[in-house]
Amino acid sequence: MSFIEVKNVRKTYRVSKRGSGIPGMIANLFVPRYEKKEAVKDISFSIEKGEMVGFIGPNGAGKSTTIKMLSGILYPDSGEIICSGTVPYRQRKSYVGRIGVVFGQKSQLQWDLPVKDSFELLKAIYSVPDSVYKRNYDRFIEMLDMAGFIEQPVRQLSLGQRMRADIAAALLHSPEIVFFDEPTIGVDVMGKEAIRSFIRELNKEDDVTMIFTTHDMQDIEKTCDRVMIIDDGSKVFDGTLTALRDRYGAERKLDVEFMCDTVTEPISGVETVDTDSRHKSFIFGREIHINDVMAELMQKYSIRDINISEADIESVIRKIYSGEGTA
Ligand SMILES: Nc1ncnc2c1ncn2[C@@H]1O[C@H](COP(=O)(O)OP(=O)(O)OP(=O)(O)O)[C@@H](O)[C@H]1O
Ligand SMILES: [Mg+2]
Repeated sequence: MSFIEVKNVRKTYRVSKRGSGIPGMIANLFVPRYEKKEAVKDISFSIEKGEMVGFIGPNGAGKSTTIKMLSGILYPDSGEIICSGTVPYRQRKSYVGRIGVVFGQKSQLQWDLPVKDSFELLKAIYSVPDSVYKRNYDRFIEMLDMAGFIEQPVRQLSLGQRMRADIAAALLHSPEIVFFDEPTIGVDVMGKEAIRSFIRELNKEDDVTMIFTTHDMQDIEKTCDRVMIIDDGSKVFDGTLTALRDRYGAERKLDVEFMCDTVTEPISGVETVDTDSRHKSFIFGREIHINDVMAELMQKYSIRDINISEADIESVIRKIYSGEGTA
């Protein structure tokens, strides 16, 4: 059995359905009407210890619902979840001390307390031994650059500072598993980088298993080896980023600078884009060998510089979300 096992999990919400206007509101008081929203439809996956998995999908796909079931906040309607030998929603008390949860949209810190006091409170709640606390506290202050605001009340922090404090708070007790639900939302570029390298380092150094939800593909590219895509409650892809590019026929681009003005002959299966008389781009699918394209160019022309780039993952994702790709 894997470290995290999710089997045929389903979750349906009951949403109150009101008629319009005041008559509808009054009618609803007497005979409330509901409709069902299937947020997660039969999802299965497994994750090994120490893995770092990016969990992505369009708005409303069911990511947060899945994270809530994995962290024991919600019960699934059917199916099974076992995380590190525990059923999260049944053994919640013993489970919370072994996991960390970060909801970017919602702070878990005490609004009026200085960050440091909020951390101390968590230390007491989770009975974190002094040595573990001290080691994590010192490390996190440095890695997340928090020294400047650690004495400030949480309500005075900027969004990026608050997010860093929230992430540190979720990890102070050295959890085995951490769930991040949009931990970089609203954070500037530098802040995002700090968060990404922190997450990566904790994953590698402490062997923490992590699931990371985000709408920023850079987050995924820079931190995760594996990506899981969910769309309308169903899993549509699970694999490496390379496999994702392969599966959806992502293109590669070869940018070439020639020694002198050059008119190139067409290469079969390769699209040529002229930037100017010395710079051209050659774009081709994965069925074409990059060596063949380079060999042909080098044989025919004098080349000054060459640069190969992988398809931008955003365009691959766009293709999947728009329904062009099928898994
Ligand atoms: N408490 C709730 N009651 C009723 N419906 C809900 C509730 N929470 C979520 N939903 C619905 O379930 C579906 C999945 O929502 P969920 O929050 O899991 O999506 P998500 O993938 O996290 O989206 P986002 O990227 O916007 O955060 C949506 O259609 C949403 O409207
Ligand atoms: Mg969400």
